[in-house]
Amino acid sequence: MATTTSTTLGSAATSPCIKGYPDAATRFPKLAEVVMYLQGLNGRADLSVLAEMLGRLDVKREDFSCACTFGSKAYRRNTIAASPWFELLALTWRSGHCTPIHDHTGVSCAFRVVEGSGTEIRFEKTPSGLVCPVGTTLMKPGYVCAAEENDIHQVANMQAPGTDLITLHIYSPRITKMNVYTFACSEGAERDDAEPNVYGAERLPEC
Ligand SMILES: [Fe+2]
Repeated sequence: MATTTSTTLGSAATSPCIKGYPDAATRFPKLAEVVMYLQGLNGRADLSVLAEMLGRLDVKREDFSCACTFGSKAYRRNTIAASPWFELLALTWRSGHCTPIHDHTGVSCAFRVVEGSGTEIRFEKTPSGLVCPVGTTLMKPGYVCAAEENDIHQVANMQAPGTDLITLHIYSPRITKMNVYTFACSEGAERDDAEPNVYGAERLPEC
């Protein structure tokens, strides 16, 4: 049965202090306009403004390569700049890395694909409590994704091993938790005979 829970988002989000580069605007000239806009925020940013700014960027990995550390077991959130009202992150993904299925309650979230191709899988809630996949988008370099408040999605690097994905994300305000969802899990069917589960899962307990 699908459930909705909230989860924290890794070391960048759980740290008690706000990390990032204090000199981000000068250290990363290609990001200067975005950084200066974000550092001037004293409230939640408008999603369309974030998407428009990301759409105007012309950036490659080498423009912020020192912020492109990769995780070994999961995608990594690298903080470029942050305040209570925003965070600008470089997300790095090896082949097979993916986010949980999540929504964007209370936060404006937009990102741009910088290197590689990402896959977005969109979901909708159903009366059962399960979320249902309703579409996918292959996101090539330059693609900008702007997630509305109630959008539920999952982002993944489904490229072949050895092919990285790098995305540049803005959240406003800074996000520390998000609602996550389960698509579907099954231990196989209940049976009315003594045969083992055809899917190889554990037998159901006897009554
Ligand atoms: Fe998202």
